[in-house]
Amino acid sequence: MSNPIVSIRNITKRFGQVKALNDVSVDIKLGEIFALLGPSGCGKSTLLRILSGFETPTEGELLLDGDDMLPLKPNKRPINMVFQSYAVFPHMSVADNVAYGLKMEKVPLAEINERVKLALEQVHLSEYGARMPEQLSGGQRQRVALARVLVKKPRLLLLDEPLSALDAKLRDAMRLELVKLQESVGITFVIVTHDQAEAMAIADRIAVLESGCIRQVASPAQLYQQPVDAFVADFIGTIHTFKIARLTHKINTVDVETPRLGNITLPLSTVAENLQPLLASNTNSSDSLIDNLVVAVRPENINVLLDEPSHQTVSIKGRLGDIAFQGQHSIVEVILDQDRSITAIVTDEQAKALASASEQTPIWASWATDAMLLLPKDARELP
Ligand SMILES: Nc1ncnc2c1ncn2[C@@H]1O[C@H](COP(=O)(O)OP(=O)(O)OP(=O)(O)O)[C@@H](O)[C@H]1O
Ligand SMILES: [Mg+2]
Repeated sequence: MSNPIVSIRNITKRFGQVKALNDVSVDIKLGEIFALLGPSGCGKSTLLRILSGFETPTEGELLLDGDDMLPLKPNKRPINMVFQSYAVFPHMSVADNVAYGLKMEKVPLAEINERVKLALEQVHLSEYGARMPEQLSGGQRQRVALARVLVKKPRLLLLDEPLSALDAKLRDAMRLELVKLQESVGITFVIVTHDQAEAMAIADRIAVLESGCIRQVASPAQLYQQPVDAFVADFIGTIHTFKIARLTHKINTVDVETPRLGNITLPLSTVAENLQPLLASNTNSSDSLIDNLVVAVRPENINVLLDEPSHQTVSIKGRLGDIAFQGQHSIVEVILDQDRSITAIVTDEQAKALASASEQTPIWASWATDAMLLLPKDARELP
């Protein structure tokens, strides 16, 4: 890999019986925004705290620019952390807030003034140095908190759920600002979030974590298009999965028999990359492998029709459930049976046409075979 700034190697962290991190290895590239994404309790904050030095790993190595970081205390590492709460001192002006860390380090006054000026420019608050925090909007206060760490010129900036305290509209605006800011200052960012939309919008690359393990590291587009398994695919967006009963690998296709969708001929482009060599070497795949495989489709690739579609597409019959109008598009629920429904994203016009149908009218969810994914439920269980 080109220029890793941080190398995390085989890091395990135990808290008594709890394994918060389990043999995590990943390189972070110079100048990128790297997101740690995963459900609550998966170990995101623990990994960030190990990077910052507030926590020590039970096992493993941590290098920054090739140097061992583990012996160094937090304040000796060229790393700064922005905490979940984004604290600013309420009784200090904006400029004094930003200058505070440098004063503590006894940096000469002329240099402090110079660096505070630059940091305020970087967060577009040059005109606000004399204001008190209470005279600022929530978004401006966030930017003061960022200026307070930027002024220290860290090699690496760690952000733990930096936008979680903001309301939805401000959060969207601050996402864009964070990306622009990172581009202009060129500092490597590691950002923790449990919000997949936020990670997708901000990050150059994302590590998806679950139960202390990294499930996949990839760009947002790769995670979406080539998830290693159904866990990652469902965490990144929404997928609907269907069991497979039999699978036959042909030269240019994979033929699957599914209890719900019938027989489907899938183009090889739909097969997850980690499955391709396995399937190619095993024309009629073993039961244990097939138990770990599903075919999947995303709601944005599903059409909902009032008439039975042609046999060119995959389709499944159901009844109309809830319709959620969202402005640009609508989410339509197709009830397959008592235990199972799937959702489709359709245009508002289509949704209006469907809304006139009664609950008893049969409808069909339908999609193209090349919009499907054939993937493992859990990539770790592949042979
Ligand atoms: N100091 C601690 N002592 C004991 N267990 C801990 C400690 N810190 C974290 N854990 C446990 O380690 C696991 C990972 O916690 P961590 O805070 O890293 O999760 P997270 O991914 O940041 O979750 P969230 O999204 O809820 O912030 C959890 O099971 C947590 O309970
Ligand atoms: Mg956390």
